[in-house]
Amino acid sequence: MALKSRFLLSLAAFSSLAVADTAGYFDNTSFCVDSKGFEKCYEKVKTSYENCISSNCSGGSKSCYDSCDGDTSCMGTHCPNLGIDCINACGCVRATDQIDCAASSCWNQVYSCEYQQTAEDVIKLCINFDADQIPYWPPPDDAIGGCSCNIAKADRKELLISAQLTECTNNMTNLDQLSTTDEITVYEQACMCCAQSAIVSAIWGTCPNTKPSLIGADDWYSMFLGPNHWDECEEYLAAYDCDRDLGYAAESAGDTHTFYKPNNIPKNGTESLFNTGSALTSPVSGATFTWTEGTLLHGITAAPTSHMASATGTHDQGTTATETGASATKIGGATSYHCSAWAGVGFIGALALVIA
Ligand SMILES: *[C@@H]1O[C@H](CO)[C@@H](O)[C@H](O)[C@H]1NC(C)=O
Ligand SMILES: *[C@@H]1O[C@H](CO)[C@@H](O)[C@H](O)[C@H]1NC(C)=O
Ligand SMILES: *[C@@H]1O[C@H](CO)[C@@H](O)[C@H](O)[C@H]1NC(C)=O
Ligand SMILES: *[C@@H]1O[C@H](CO)[C@@H](O)[C@H](O)[C@H]1NC(C)=O
Repeated sequence: MALKSRFLLSLAAFSSLAVADTAGYFDNTSFCVDSKGFEKCYEKVKTSYENCISSNCSGGSKSCYDSCDGDTSCMGTHCPNLGIDCINACGCVRATDQIDCAASSCWNQVYSCEYQQTAEDVIKLCINFDADQIPYWPPPDDAIGGCSCNIAKADRKELLISAQLTECTNNMTNLDQLSTTDEITVYEQACMCCAQSAIVSAIWGTCPNTKPSLIGADDWYSMFLGPNHWDECEEYLAAYDCDRDLGYAAESAGDTHTFYKPNNIPKNGTESLFNTGSALTSPVSGATFTWTEGTLLHGITAAPTSHMASATGTHDQGTTATETGASATKIGGATSYHCSAWAGVGFIGALALVIA
């Protein structure tokens, strides 16, 4: 029975989150207002990540980390003792730290594809994270220096759809009208199929021109659509009204109005991801601001524009983020993420547990 299918692997374990290079998704830091500060910041984050894994993950060892150069799926395969949960918990901290690096030293690129991909890592790796707290996320549709695909908008829909799957499965208004176990099973499968269809809509509908694999389609297929029998959804989608009766059209549920069937998915877009227009010229949230991650406060000081000039310099060890005027600090609260608290599943995995 499809509803009983249960998979514990996290999406994070399979996706190409493991960007171990100097600046993660930002392959050209010279576009950052303070490229030196940005690279310094990423270097620091990389070191903390390495320490987090070697000191927190049982069986952790620097040699394993080094042999994989910090690559998540490599470590998951070659050093299974580390525990993918623990690697992901450390990855969560790394991703939020990288957000801080960008907000302070690359604030002119916070609507870019690269920034949105970094934010996506936060969503995938951090459990119970309130995504709306991520600074500059999601970007407005017509953002200056935005990405050809508003990745965050699709991500946000996916989060809301996954929450709606729980709502739908537990909706007593609907369940009370069902009397047999068979009817309930069909209803629950319909909740699942509508969620799957809504996910397809979020991916193909938000960015119709973008190649779907670049915005997570393959991961959704292998982790959520495939294992939950999306290909058999036609009859359930015909039997139930996803938008009103099952609630998926609500704004709070992802605002989906087109429900594709497994055999009529829209044509794939062909574009890659690219940034449009010019970059921002002043920090959108002001020179200093704070964002909160649970009880943790992230204080951000944006690098002054004067650093734009030095942005082409080579990597210089003498320059630190602080010297250039940019800074990111974390104050207060116990760190929200600990290996032990990491439920063993990423965002899509957690979604699957709902119906386990
Ligand atoms: C990075 O961007 C700068 C400025 O556009 C350009 O001059 C440089 O060649 C780029 N570097 C790489 C490695 O693409
Ligand atoms: C469309 O994209 C999906 C997701 O990446 C892929 O599985 C599928 O094979 C693609 N279809 C075509 C016709 O290329
Ligand atoms: C529960 O079902 C009712 C009746 O179909 C629907 O109107 C309502 O929106 C659903 N509630 C949620 C939270 O989806
Ligand atoms: C790793 O361990 C350090 C020190 O023991 C702790 O402060 C930190 O929160 C841990 N990180 C994770 C992700 O568990």
